[in-house]
Amino acid sequence: MKKFIPIAEPLFDGNELKYLTDCIETGWISSIGSYVTRFETEFASYIGCKYGVAVHTGTAALHLALAALRVGPGDEVIIPDLTFAATANAVLYTGARPVLVDVEKDTWNIRPEAIRQAITDRTKAVIPVHLYGHPCDMDEIMKVAREHGLFVIEDAAEAHGAEYKGKRVGSFGTISCFSFFGNKTITTGEGGICLSDDEALLERIAKLRDHGMNKDKKYWHDEAGFNYRMTNLQAAVGVAQLERIDWFVNRKREIARLYNQYLADVKNIVLPMEKDWAKNTYWMYTFLLKTGQSQISRDDLIDALKREGIDSRPVFYPLHSMPPYEVAGRFVNAEAISEAGLSLPSSPTLRKEEIREIAEVLKRQVKGR
Ligand SMILES: Cc1ncc(COP(=O)(O)O)c(C=O)c1O
Repeated sequence: MKKFIPIAEPLFDGNELKYLTDCIETGWISSIGSYVTRFETEFASYIGCKYGVAVHTGTAALHLALAALRVGPGDEVIIPDLTFAATANAVLYTGARPVLVDVEKDTWNIRPEAIRQAITDRTKAVIPVHLYGHPCDMDEIMKVAREHGLFVIEDAAEAHGAEYKGKRVGSFGTISCFSFFGNKTITTGEGGICLSDDEALLERIAKLRDHGMNKDKKYWHDEAGFNYRMTNLQAAVGVAQLERIDWFVNRKREIARLYNQYLADVKNIVLPMEKDWAKNTYWMYTFLLKTGQSQISRDDLIDALKREGIDSRPVFYPLHSMPPYEVAGRFVNAEAISEAGLSLPSSPTLRKEEIREIAEVLKRQVKGR
């Protein structure tokens, strides 16, 4: 294979350029502008929430959600051991302690029972992460949260359009957060959003996004906030992407269907799963290489694919194994998934031929040793 197939590349074949040009021509390039409001309203409505506040990254969305709920020093926030570090970093920014728990073996998402076991008097919130586009078991999580009076902040950065029992993820928690980084299902370059049905809470998030400034009294700061605003330029791209979100989500599912089909007979791998109550939107197509049974290690497979012009990514390291979040103890499922997991190219631009070629190369590497 001659050309290099990246793990993810964005696709801008809708109104992105038109709306961006509109921003430039009208001069509305900063954070005041009609596209920001449109993006907030339309994305909230797509997910099934009443309100949205757009911010400049998904990490900022998580931080603001926690700050708005007044999570701070002395508090504990339960998060999965297996997630991108932003989930934990946002908790650390507030001065609270992230409490790590193990994930489920099959969905790779936080285990509701593990949440229950980790609750203490200090627990204030839980952040379920819909990893790689597979929804968490929200009924169970909401039940535990209700029983213990916890806030639920959904980290849906990787799960645009995913559904739990027919309802879109991001519509269950007290607040939900999404990312629109360049590799996400729809993108604004960098970007994020907080969604909620609680108007007062979202007003507080909007205030904290803008330095804590009182919205009725210019330059009067009720508290020290942040500058986490999304620009009208980002939102212009977002509005255009959102017009085609169903197409993007269907593409992700089609890419997964093709990989599943081409890789179905490979014995040494575990294909990504979809619970019968779930709509997985396969943000990154990710599978497990069965340790011990395959002749090639996961990391050698990454190198072998690279030599053939195919980009891939290992699954995240378990948080507990890295210095900023280190804790003792075993997180058996997170460790096993992290060691064996590999993501394959998942761009909306991928052609069927390319997916078949990638699968062929992978099969040769996994089988032929
Ligand atoms: C699970 C998860 N949470 C949070 C983030 C943070 O989003 P951002 O990169 O937009 O800050 C990401 C992605 O990058 C993510 O994958």
